[in-house]
Amino acid sequence: MINECYYDDYDKKENLRFDSKAVHGALGCDPMTGAVSFPIFQTATFRHRKFGVSTGYNYSRLLNPTRQELERTIAILEGGLAGFAFSSGQAANMCVFALLKKGDHVLLSDDIYGGTFRICDEIFTPFGIEFTYVDMSDLDVVKAAMKPNTAMFFVETPTNPMMHVADIKALADMAHANGAIMVVDNTFLTPYYQRPIELGADLVVHSGTKYLCGHNDVVCGLVVCTTEEQREHFEHEMKSRGNGLASFDSWLVIRGIKTLPLRMQKHTSNAYEVANWLRKHPKVKKVYYVGFEDHPGYEITKKQTTGFGGMISFELDSEETAMNLLSNVKMILFAESLGGTETLVTYPLTQTHESTPPDVREKLGINERFIRISIGIEDPQDIIEDLAQALG
Ligand SMILES: Cc1ncc(COP(=O)(O)O)c(C=O)c1O
Repeated sequence: MINECYYDDYDKKENLRFDSKAVHGALGCDPMTGAVSFPIFQTATFRHRKFGVSTGYNYSRLLNPTRQELERTIAILEGGLAGFAFSSGQAANMCVFALLKKGDHVLLSDDIYGGTFRICDEIFTPFGIEFTYVDMSDLDVVKAAMKPNTAMFFVETPTNPMMHVADIKALADMAHANGAIMVVDNTFLTPYYQRPIELGADLVVHSGTKYLCGHNDVVCGLVVCTTEEQREHFEHEMKSRGNGLASFDSWLVIRGIKTLPLRMQKHTSNAYEVANWLRKHPKVKKVYYVGFEDHPGYEITKKQTTGFGGMISFELDSEETAMNLLSNVKMILFAESLGGTETLVTYPLTQTHESTPPDVREKLGINERFIRISIGIEDPQDIIEDLAQALG
């Protein structure tokens, strides 16, 4: 019964545009009652009417209808085969790297999220998997770093926090020519602005904690895959590791996704104003923002995305100015994370990139003067006035 309704509704929605798909999800309504808000199936287990008769749901660690609605929704939005909702972005990444086997080599962006470094260096390296961190925005550097056993490219674009932009299609082609798969962490731009699978990526991963949830109230990870083999891998991972997202959290992310297009537009227009203001401030030495026409990745950004997003990084004139900013913001919150309705300032050196090796941080420019800001959806003038008073 449930499955019949599912396929019925899915067919009707296939031709919708992105904004409508975000609102209406996969099933959208509850097939049994017609409830417009998809129910939170707060249950650990599911009754079988008799032996051999099942609704298809057995136990929530394996499959839960609310989580499944979120998983199907993100698969639709990214244009993939199947989605998986994990208890964090880290949990999602753990299952992505579990695709590898001993002797494999992986190429990753050099200023990747610090937690991803930790997974690779501290968890998977001891199992005989080799990781090389390079500037994925430089195709010659990538080519030179490839090895016969390179099995995966893992790319953030734009990167966190240096905003390097990688050419997804060119990298996917290079990876495939070597028999490797291409994974894109699409946290910063979301499928609203960037759809890596359409550009050739094999897997997309998200910290759903960020823009997809959008309200700084859930920690969540999402994966979208493109092959049956990968689908089986992620089903097996979730079943075995028991790291699926809880139903209430899944419901919050489903709700967040309904307003994703509206929020992304506001994050982007706010960020554009703030980035331009920051650039003129005498205490700001350099602003990293992909929406600047003189950003080295501007042309690729225009080619492969439909928007710039809400993330900005900047370098101040001194550590003292950085400390003043973090201590004196009023409306803006000094907190780790990004992508929510509230504007957050983060200090990558001791927060998000604390696990990045010091020499790599130094080379990238993640120093004591470096700040990352996730622009929220408040009035942009309030964000600017708060920054102005905190910078002094
Ligand atoms: C780009 C990126 N990927 C992955 C993660 C990890 O996600 P989570 O914090 O949801 O575990 C983060 C966290 O900040 C991130 O910024």
